[in-house]
Amino acid sequence: MIYVSEIAKLLEGVTPLSANELVELIAPAPSSEMGDWAFPCFRLSKAMKKSPGLIASDLTRELKTNKPEFIDKIEAVNGYVNFYLNRRAVVESVLTAVKERGEGYGGSDAGAGKTILIDYSSPNIAKHFHVGHLGTTFIGHALYNILRFLGYHVVGINYLGDWGTQFGKLITAYKHWGSKAEIEARGIDGLMDLYVKFHKEAESTPGLNDEARAWMLKMQDGDDESLNIWKWFVDLSLIEYERVYKRLNITFDSYRGESYYNDKLDAVVSELREKGLLTLSEGASIVDLSAYNMPPCLILRGDGGSLYPTRDIATALERKQTYDFYKSLYVTGLEQNLHFAQWMKIVEMMGYDWAKDMIHIPYGLVVFEEGKKISSRGGNVIKMEDLLDKAAAKTLEIINEKNPNLADKETVAEQVGIGAVIFNQLYNNRIKDVQFSWDKMLNFDGETGPYAQYTSARANSVLKKTPAAVYEMETDYSLLCDNYSYEVIKLLDLFPERIAEAGEKYEPFIISRYLVSLAQAFNKFYHNNIILSDDLTLSAARVNLTIRVRDILKRGLGLLGIAAPEEM
Ligand code: ARG
Repeated sequence: MIYVSEIAKLLEGVTPLSANELVELIAPAPSSEMGDWAFPCFRLSKAMKKSPGLIASDLTRELKTNKPEFIDKIEAVNGYVNFYLNRRAVVESVLTAVKERGEGYGGSDAGAGKTILIDYSSPNIAKHFHVGHLGTTFIGHALYNILRFLGYHVVGINYLGDWGTQFGKLITAYKHWGSKAEIEARGIDGLMDLYVKFHKEAESTPGLNDEARAWMLKMQDGDDESLNIWKWFVDLSLIEYERVYKRLNITFDSYRGESYYNDKLDAVVSELREKGLLTLSEGASIVDLSAYNMPPCLILRGDGGSLYPTRDIATALERKQTYDFYKSLYVTGLEQNLHFAQWMKIVEMMGYDWAKDMIHIPYGLVVFEEGKKISSRGGNVIKMEDLLDKAAAKTLEIINEKNPNLADKETVAEQVGIGAVIFNQLYNNRIKDVQFSWDKMLNFDGETGPYAQYTSARANSVLKKTPAAVYEMETDYSLLCDNYSYEVIKLLDLFPERIAEAGEKYEPFIISRYLVSLAQAFNKFYHNNIILSDDLTLSAARVNLTIRVRDILKRGLGLLGIAAPEEM
């Protein structure tokens, strides 16, 4: 936010507000005709007992008397004080800052020394990685990158759903009807079939349910045979997940799943009992949350079986011990809101003041064109791999139409197709439903991932054509003061601000929106200003700007988890 703190200092002398408050209030002017920054006077009206319009004109008159060099003009309009900066000064300092900070431009060390955990993706194993996982996986990964760029020590945790009654059923089914070779060959598909078969057979043979319970008990008691089969199922499932993560370029720092906490649940139950938080209800143990307007939370079933919230409490205690986190984030669909509200409240009731540092990051549903909603826990399954394949295939068709001679088309199609799906997921406020339309998200001219990628590739192709002599020239910043160049410069200036905001609000869409604006501004610049011409000085200035745009588009896409192909 170039010169904003300087403007705030000027205003500090003539208003009752502090410099910090002023910085908060100063906003980008709505269009360049109205200057660069605008200061709204409405909030001052009460304290200064004057109309905003009058305050604006009085302030303007006062500030004008001692106007510093970086300001060209100050104007009062409709209760705002508009500041017109000296463009040349802005252009020079922005481009210099972007260049000098290099790869680090946009990031900060705001998070230095602080650890943030992100629990994301976390699929329930023995089931396919499906479209219900799009949100948690993409949002979690983007937040991971963003917070790291802001200097935090970030730990990505894949809290695999790798324990529960379904494994008793699976083992039972496997023992009756399974074949090792078939399961080995078919992976999760094989396991899913076993699961379906179990439920079908159990209708006529209820004894199967007892068998399943018995296997589950064996697992809980540490019996080798059952645990070996279970472990094998886990590993088989992970093969599919790893394949998808690799394609998405995602790695986790920890795969500690639900099963890890089996031997830590009793301690939680005892602690809750000692602290007087447990109530017996129809044989089960619950925590009464009526004081917080929430239904009771089930901690221990009548048969002694443990539950999802109990496990999350145990997990939270262990994570606090292991990482002493500054914040601990959980990215899941909003249908789990109550679950997180309940167990986090319980941690607070247990007397842990760090309960406030755990944050549930919910997101909306994916809505397909036909209006079908997909929830993250629902059974309606479109496999993630099929979806990604389709994205790549559809993109390849477009490339074959637009640029059939492109080198390494398949790789580009993969990057652009997947980029489109990710960008689409991250283009709105998390909590909003995501509209899933292939035509819209693959539109190279729309507000899409491919559009941002295409723009960076376009910049790149100009840079490839640029003669060496141009690269060697000094930049004459006064040549970048036209409206098209200046719009781009101002957006480059906003990059760090947007990243900080995305990190603060845990909202990747702030970055995706920013990238679309930057791409749009650059394309206007590109269409109206000839970048490479006989005028070497002019070319050099425009090339300088083009390099920065290409780099920032690439870096921004990277934060979202999207690759930027060199050519498209
Ligand atoms: N495995 C869960 C599911 O698929 C998500 C787990 C989220 N993380 C957590 N700590 N509860 O619904």
